[in-house]
Amino acid sequence: MNNAHHQAVELPPIRGQEFRRLCGSWATGVAVLTTHDDEGRRAALTMNAVTSLSLDPPLMLVCVANTSDTLMALRQSGVFCINVLAVGQEEIAARCAAKGSDKLERIPYRVGVTGVPVIEGSLVALECRLINDVSGGDHRILIGEVVSGYDSPGAPLLYFRGNYARL
Ligand SMILES: Cc1cc2nc3c(=O)[nH]c(=O)nc-3n(C[C@H](O)[C@H](O)[C@H](O)COP(=O)(O)O)c2cc1C
Repeated sequence: MNNAHHQAVELPPIRGQEFRRLCGSWATGVAVLTTHDDEGRRAALTMNAVTSLSLDPPLMLVCVANTSDTLMALRQSGVFCINVLAVGQEEIAARCAAKGSDKLERIPYRVGVTGVPVIEGSLVALECRLINDVSGGDHRILIGEVVSGYDSPGAPLLYFRGNYARL
């Protein structure tokens, strides 16, 4: 397609809800990002905009909405953990996808080497140090260097077209 063609065709705008629906066909796992603020208050949000970025150095990339309360805490401490959820952890996913002041209150976790909550029963937990924070529309693109990783046996919790799913 050349430029002239682009200018001739009037494309209808893709609105937020429609774009969200279209993106839902990209099947993903489900993760909970955990962190704490500079006063030690823990914070967490459910997310699926997670990808491995680099092997050497080991980097992960996550995208967090500008409006997220967890983002504010993360920026203060500069550390976070990506907890990849297993089948059976749907309730944890639902709780951390809501707004709230202490979502981890009744969720079993231990404190990792960076001081962030590491959720018990996660398929894998990757503790990261924030090394870069880039603008991406209404989200921030956060890049973290992985400093520690733990995995356990189990089956992944999946997300597809707005619903949780299993293999
Ligand atoms: C399956 C699923 C995936 C989500 N993925 C993301 C994501 O990648 N980034 C994001 O910012 N919010 C994502 N959300 C929405 C947040 O979990 C939600 O807005 C949450 O209330 C934010 O909480 P906070 O403001 O306490 O950080 C997702 C929600 C669900 C259910």
